[in-house]
Amino acid sequence: MSTLLAINTSPMTTTAVTRRLVETFVSLWRDRFPGGRVIPRDLGVAPPPHLDERTLAAFAKPEEVLTADDRRLLALSDDLIGELVAADHVVIGSPMYNFTVTSGFKAWIDMVGRAGKTFDYSPSGPRGLLGGRQVFVLTARGGFYTNDASEAPMDFQESFLRGYFGFLGIEDVRFIHAEGQGIDPGTARNNEAEAISQLEALFAGGGVQRVA
Ligand SMILES: Cc1cc2nc3c(=O)[nH]c(=O)nc-3n(C[C@H](O)[C@H](O)[C@H](O)COP(=O)(O)O)c2cc1C
Repeated sequence: MSTLLAINTSPMTTTAVTRRLVETFVSLWRDRFPGGRVIPRDLGVAPPPHLDERTLAAFAKPEEVLTADDRRLLALSDDLIGELVAADHVVIGSPMYNFTVTSGFKAWIDMVGRAGKTFDYSPSGPRGLLGGRQVFVLTARGGFYTNDASEAPMDFQESFLRGYFGFLGIEDVRFIHAEGQGIDPGTARNNEAEAISQLEALFAGGGVQRVA
Protein backbone atom coordinates (compact mmCIF):
# COMPACT_ATOMS: atom_id res chain seq x y z
CA MET A 1 0.00 0.00 0.00
CA SER A 2 1.34 3.42 -0.94
CA THR A 3 1.39 6.17 1.66
CA LEU A 4 1.26 9.92 1.11
CA LEU A 5 2.24 12.44 3.77
CA ALA A 6 0.27 15.62 2.93
CA ILE A 7 1.69 18.67 4.69
CA ASN A 8 0.13 22.12 4.76
CA THR A 9 2.20 25.01 6.06
CA SER A 10 0.07 28.09 5.31
CA PRO A 11 -1.42 29.72 8.42
CA MET A 12 -4.34 30.85 6.20
CA THR A 13 -7.08 28.25 6.56
CA THR A 14 -9.67 29.33 3.99
CA THR A 15 -7.88 31.42 1.36
CA ALA A 16 -4.51 29.71 0.95
CA VAL A 17 -3.44 28.99 -2.63
CA THR A 18 -1.11 26.24 -1.40
CA ARG A 19 -3.95 24.48 0.43
CA ARG A 20 -5.91 24.29 -2.84
CA LEU A 21 -2.83 22.92 -4.62
CA VAL A 22 -2.29 20.28 -1.92
CA GLU A 23 -5.98 19.33 -2.12
CA THR A 24 -5.66 18.84 -5.89
CA PHE A 25 -2.49 16.79 -5.45
CA VAL A 26 -4.18 14.54 -2.86
CA SER A 27 -7.18 14.00 -5.12
CA LEU A 28 -4.97 13.07 -8.11
CA TRP A 29 -2.86 10.84 -5.85
CA ARG A 30 -5.95 8.99 -4.58
CA ASP A 31 -6.97 8.30 -8.21
CA ARG A 32 -3.45 7.04 -8.97
CA PHE A 33 -3.12 4.90 -5.81
CA PRO A 34 -6.63 3.65 -4.91
CA GLY A 35 -6.66 2.28 -1.37
CA GLY A 36 -3.51 4.25 -0.49
CA ARG A 37 -3.13 5.91 2.90
CA VAL A 38 -2.97 9.70 3.31
CA ILE A 39 -1.42 11.12 6.49
CA PRO A 40 -2.44 14.79 6.91
CA ARG A 41 -0.18 17.17 8.85
CA ASP A 42 -1.11 20.83 9.30
CA LEU A 43 1.89 22.95 10.31
CA GLY A 44 0.03 26.18 9.52
CA VAL A 45 -2.67 25.58 12.12
CA ALA A 46 -0.50 23.66 14.61
CA PRO A 47 3.18 24.53 14.17
CA PRO A 48 5.68 22.54 16.24
CA PRO A 49 7.41 24.51 19.03
CA HIS A 50 10.91 25.90 18.53
CA LEU A 51 13.70 23.64 19.70
CA ASP A 52 14.80 24.41 23.24
CA GLU A 53 17.78 23.40 25.38
CA ARG A 54 16.14 20.40 27.06
CA THR A 55 14.78 18.99 23.79
CA LEU A 56 18.17 19.35 22.10
CA ALA A 57 19.83 17.62 25.05
CA ALA A 58 17.34 14.73 24.67
CA PHE A 59 18.06 14.60 20.90
CA ALA A 60 21.73 13.96 21.73
CA LYS A 61 21.18 11.14 24.24
CA PRO A 62 21.39 7.45 23.34
CA GLU A 63 18.05 5.60 23.53
CA GLU A 64 19.01 3.55 26.59
CA VAL A 65 19.63 6.54 28.89
CA LEU A 66 16.44 8.50 28.03
CA THR A 67 14.36 9.47 31.05
CA ALA A 68 10.56 9.67 31.07
CA ASP A 69 10.91 13.48 30.75
CA ASP A 70 13.22 13.10 27.74
CA ARG A 71 10.73 10.76 26.08
CA ARG A 72 7.96 13.31 26.61
CA LEU A 73 10.12 16.04 25.04
CA LEU A 74 10.96 13.77 22.09
CA ALA A 75 7.40 12.55 21.48
CA LEU A 76 6.42 15.11 18.83
CA SER A 77 9.74 14.79 16.96
CA ASP A 78 9.35 10.98 17.05
CA ASP A 79 5.78 11.24 15.69
CA LEU A 80 6.79 13.63 12.88
CA ILE A 81 9.72 11.42 11.89
CA GLY A 82 7.43 8.37 12.00
CA GLU A 83 5.07 10.05 9.53
CA LEU A 84 7.93 10.90 7.18
CA VAL A 85 9.47 7.42 7.38
CA ALA A 86 6.05 5.84 6.66
CA ALA A 87 5.57 7.92 3.49
CA ASP A 88 6.46 6.88 -0.06
CA HIS A 89 5.45 10.33 -1.28
CA VAL A 90 5.42 13.66 0.53
CA VAL A 91 3.50 16.69 -0.75
CA ILE A 92 4.12 20.04 0.91
CA GLY A 93 2.15 23.24 0.35
CA SER A 94 4.73 25.97 0.99
CA PRO A 95 3.94 29.68 0.82
CA MET A 96 7.07 31.82 0.42
CA TYR A 97 7.49 34.00 3.50
CA ASN A 98 10.36 36.48 3.46
CA PHE A 99 12.10 34.61 0.65
CA THR A 100 12.00 31.21 2.32
CA VAL A 101 9.58 28.85 4.13
CA THR A 102 7.13 29.75 6.91
CA SER A 103 8.41 29.53 10.48
CA GLY A 104 6.03 26.63 11.25
CA PHE A 105 7.55 24.63 8.40
CA LYS A 106 11.06 25.51 9.60
CA ALA A 107 10.09 24.25 13.08
CA TRP A 108 9.07 20.91 11.48
CA ILE A 109 12.39 20.81 9.59
CA ASP A 110 14.26 21.27 12.89
CA MET A 111 12.17 18.49 14.50
CA VAL A 112 12.75 15.87 11.79
CA GLY A 113 16.44 16.50 11.06
CA ARG A 114 17.79 14.20 13.80
CA ALA A 115 21.17 12.45 13.84
CA GLY A 116 20.73 8.68 14.10
CA LYS A 117 17.10 8.88 12.90
CA THR A 118 16.98 10.72 9.57
CA PHE A 119 20.69 11.23 8.92
CA ASP A 120 23.89 9.81 10.29
CA TYR A 121 27.48 10.89 10.58
CA SER A 122 29.84 8.54 8.75
CA PRO A 123 33.65 8.80 8.49
CA SER A 124 33.16 10.45 5.09
CA GLY A 125 30.60 13.00 6.39
CA PRO A 126 26.83 13.11 6.93
CA ARG A 127 24.68 10.48 5.23
CA GLY A 128 20.92 10.80 4.64
CA LEU A 129 18.78 7.86 5.79
CA LEU A 130 15.53 8.61 3.94
CA GLY A 131 16.39 7.83 0.32
CA GLY A 132 13.82 6.28 -2.02
CA ARG A 133 11.05 8.79 -1.37
CA GLN A 134 9.65 11.49 -3.62
CA VAL A 135 8.93 14.99 -2.31
CA PHE A 136 6.65 17.42 -4.15
CA VAL A 137 6.73 21.04 -3.05
CA LEU A 138 3.83 23.23 -4.18
CA THR A 139 4.66 26.87 -3.56
CA ALA A 140 2.78 30.18 -3.75
CA ARG A 141 4.63 33.45 -3.96
CA GLY A 142 3.55 37.07 -4.19
CA GLY A 143 6.24 37.84 -6.78
CA PHE A 144 8.30 36.03 -9.42
CA TYR A 145 11.50 34.07 -8.92
CA THR A 146 11.61 31.65 -11.87
CA ASN A 147 12.38 32.00 -15.59
CA ASP A 148 15.32 34.37 -15.09
CA ALA A 149 13.25 36.80 -12.98
CA SER A 150 15.39 39.58 -11.52
CA GLU A 151 14.37 38.42 -8.01
CA ALA A 152 15.61 34.85 -8.66
CA PRO A 153 18.68 35.24 -6.39
CA MET A 154 16.28 35.93 -3.49
CA ASP A 155 14.62 32.51 -3.81
CA PHE A 156 16.00 30.84 -0.69
CA GLN A 157 12.95 28.57 -0.52
CA GLU A 158 13.66 26.12 -3.36
CA SER A 159 17.44 25.99 -2.79
CA PHE A 160 16.97 25.48 0.96
CA LEU A 161 14.42 22.68 0.55
CA ARG A 162 16.47 20.90 -2.15
CA GLY A 163 19.52 21.11 0.10
CA TYR A 164 17.65 19.97 3.22
CA PHE A 165 15.88 16.97 1.69
CA GLY A 166 19.09 16.05 -0.16
CA PHE A 167 20.84 16.05 3.24
CA LEU A 168 18.23 13.51 4.42
CA GLY A 169 18.99 11.39 1.33
CA ILE A 170 15.94 12.45 -0.72
CA GLU A 171 17.16 13.49 -4.15
CA ASP A 172 13.83 13.37 -6.03
CA VAL A 173 12.37 16.74 -4.98
CA ARG A 174 10.03 18.42 -7.48
CA PHE A 175 8.65 21.93 -7.37
CA ILE A 176 5.52 23.46 -8.84
CA HIS A 177 5.21 27.21 -8.30
CA ALA A 178 2.12 29.42 -8.31
CA GLU A 179 3.88 32.77 -8.59
CA GLY A 180 2.61 36.33 -8.93
CA GLN A 181 -0.06 35.92 -6.25
CA GLY A 182 0.42 39.53 -5.12
CA ILE A 183 0.36 41.15 -8.56
CA ASP A 184 -3.37 41.35 -9.38
CA PRO A 185 -6.31 38.94 -9.09
CA GLY A 186 -6.19 37.90 -12.77
CA THR A 187 -2.47 37.08 -12.69
CA ALA A 188 -2.93 35.22 -9.40
CA ARG A 189 -5.81 33.11 -10.78
CA ASN A 190 -4.00 32.34 -14.06
CA ASN A 191 -0.82 31.25 -12.31
CA GLU A 192 -2.74 29.06 -9.87
CA ALA A 193 -4.58 27.45 -12.80
CA GLU A 194 -1.22 26.92 -14.53
CA ALA A 195 0.13 25.20 -11.39
CA ILE A 196 -2.94 22.90 -11.36
CA SER A 197 -2.30 22.05 -15.04
CA GLN A 198 1.30 21.20 -14.16
CA LEU A 199 0.06 18.91 -11.38
CA GLU A 200 -2.27 17.12 -13.79
CA ALA A 201 0.58 16.75 -16.29
CA LEU A 202 2.85 15.42 -13.53
CA PHE A 203 0.42 12.58 -12.74
CA ALA A 204 -0.51 11.95 -16.39
CA GLY A 205 3.18 11.75 -17.30
CA GLY A 206 3.98 9.15 -14.61
CA GLY A 207 6.01 11.60 -12.50
CA VAL A 208 4.56 10.20 -9.27
CA GLN A 209 6.08 6.76 -9.14
CA ARG A 210 5.16 3.61 -7.29
CA VAL A 211 7.84 3.00 -4.68
CA ALA A 212 9.03 -0.60 -4.56
C1 LIG B 1 4.47 37.27 6.20
C2 LIG B 1 4.49 37.15 4.70
C3 LIG B 1 5.69 37.18 4.01
C4 LIG B 1 5.71 37.07 2.62
N1 LIG B 1 6.92 37.08 1.98
C5 LIG B 1 6.95 36.97 0.64
C6 LIG B 1 8.20 36.98 -0.06
O1 LIG B 1 9.28 37.06 0.51
N2 LIG B 1 8.18 36.87 -1.41
C7 LIG B 1 7.00 36.74 -2.10
O2 LIG B 1 7.04 36.64 -3.33
N3 LIG B 1 5.80 36.71 -1.48
C8 LIG B 1 5.76 36.82 -0.12
N4 LIG B 1 4.56 36.77 0.53
C9 LIG B 1 3.33 36.52 -0.25
C10 LIG B 1 2.92 35.07 -0.15
O3 LIG B 1 3.94 34.18 -0.59
C11 LIG B 1 1.66 34.82 -1.00
O4 LIG B 1 0.61 35.62 -0.45
C12 LIG B 1 1.21 33.39 -1.06
O5 LIG B 1 0.06 33.29 -1.84
C13 LIG B 1 0.91 32.82 0.33
O6 LIG B 1 0.56 31.44 0.20
P1 LIG B 1 -0.86 30.92 0.68
O7 LIG B 1 -1.88 31.64 -0.16
O8 LIG B 1 -0.83 29.45 0.37
O9 LIG B 1 -1.00 31.22 2.13
C14 LIG B 1 4.51 36.89 1.90
C15 LIG B 1 3.29 36.87 2.61
C16 LIG B 1 3.27 36.99 3.98
C17 LIG B 1 1.95 36.94 4.71
